[in-house]
Amino acid sequence: MTLALAGKRALVCGSSQGIGFAAAAALATAGATVTLLARNRKSLEAARERLAGSGHAVLVADFDDPGAVRDTVAAHVAEQGAKHILVNNAGGPRGGQVHAAEPDAFLAVFRQHLLVNHALVQTLLPGMRAAGYGRIINVISTSVKEPIPDLGVSNTIRGAVASWAKTLAGELGAHGITVNNVLPGFTRTARLHDLFAAKAKRLGTTTAEVEAEARATVPLGRFAEPEEVAAAIAFLASPLAGYINGINLPVDGGRTRSL
Ligand SMILES: NC(=O)c1ccc[n+]([C@@H]2O[C@H](COP(=O)([O-])OP(=O)(O)OC[C@H]3O[C@@H](n4cnc5c(N)ncnc54)[C@H](OP(=O)(O)O)[C@@H]3O)[C@@H](O)[C@H]2O)c1
Repeated sequence: MTLALAGKRALVCGSSQGIGFAAAAALATAGATVTLLARNRKSLEAARERLAGSGHAVLVADFDDPGAVRDTVAAHVAEQGAKHILVNNAGGPRGGQVHAAEPDAFLAVFRQHLLVNHALVQTLLPGMRAAGYGRIINVISTSVKEPIPDLGVSNTIRGAVASWAKTLAGELGAHGITVNNVLPGFTRTARLHDLFAAKAKRLGTTTAEVEAEARATVPLGRFAEPEEVAAAIAFLASPLAGYINGINLPVDGGRTRSL
């Protein structure tokens, strides 16, 4: 069994580093041609250099402006052809308790995490329909199953993204398009480091102590490498996962306690 992505074109968002980059690398290794998207051109170009294969592209866009993201991607598709795979992935929202959140914080995260996903689906859908093959994979969080303390705004918007995705999955299956969510647990990226450092500062303790406490909640006793989350994304993008639709897949070492 192979992932067999030769001839498939993928757009991977938030892919200059972390889980997004690892997903792009896994898709490229499986044979896909990948377009990387984030805000920083220099880090995108460096990321592209590290991908297997050739023909990969970069796009610079900021999720603060869903309309601009849509226009950038639409122009790219008109030039380089339709995409078969969309990985919706963005920078994680800032931490904090929900009762203290500013109303505008919800709007900003809704824009970056839901409206951008939606704009991209609407832009790429005609091509996926025409190809009879579409894989929409949203990187969200285990908080859609169990809200995570001190990530109040994130918990709220992740739930909205999960409901949006489940609804889409019910609508698009007839066209050979699946929609699934990957829910990373603690994954070794810049985002995780920043969250732990912020928590240590808030509690007046060390990052090492915060890390040890977090690690103790994971049955596997360690954090994930980004490549382990990426492997799940690449599988869901492949023909092998053709009958998997509308799921929330935790890749969390067993940390989520709900079924
Ligand atoms: N790491 C974990 O433990 C973990 C656990 C659960 C869920 N998650 C979620 O998984 C997702 C990816 O996490 P990660 O740890 O891989 O994050 P990361 O290392 O911080 O990477 C985020 C990526 O998104 C891009 N990005 C950030 N803001 C953007 C914007 N406004 N417009 C366009 N691109 C933007 C960044 O590049 P630029 O800065 O160049 O734009 C970067 O490529 C996040 O939603 C995170 O909350 C992560």
